[in-house]
Amino acid sequence: MRIIIINGPNLNLLGKREPEIYGHQTFEEVLASMQLNFPTVSLHYFQSNHEGEIIDKIHEVGFSYQGIVLNAGAYTHTSIAIADAIAAVEVPVVEVHISNVFERESYRRHSFLSAKCAGMITGLGMKGYELAIRFLIE
Ligand code: DQA
Repeated sequence: MRIIIINGPNLNLLGKREPEIYGHQTFEEVLASMQLNFPTVSLHYFQSNHEGEIIDKIHEVGFSYQGIVLNAGAYTHTSIAIADAIAAVEVPVVEVHISNVFERESYRRHSFLSAKCAGMITGLGMKGYELAIRFLIE
């Protein structure tokens, strides 16, 4: 079973970026522990700060992988193009946010992606990625 985690803009800085909101762990640390927790899953990872590259990756895996865990960062709140890419492919997509987007600035409360996703996890920290994988494999 192939699952990919796609992280969007600024999420390459996890561990350094606003640690009071996003924590102190790097994503590489989180990924290593998830690879141990899901030994039967072929877990892939892609991060990009560029909208088009995220769309290209969704197209690339969208008919052959079994799941996408997507944290599109700020593109969540702006990108109809990423929403269209999710709608265009067959693979289920779970939207994840590390912080609770509903308790932050009002512009973070709207997601263009949620309606096209299987579901959304927000505010559970890095644990959200693991829970999303668990949903996809069950
Ligand atoms: C985020 C929330 C977004 O509003 C923000 O732009 C991010 C990260 C999260 O994981 O909490 O970059 O997606």
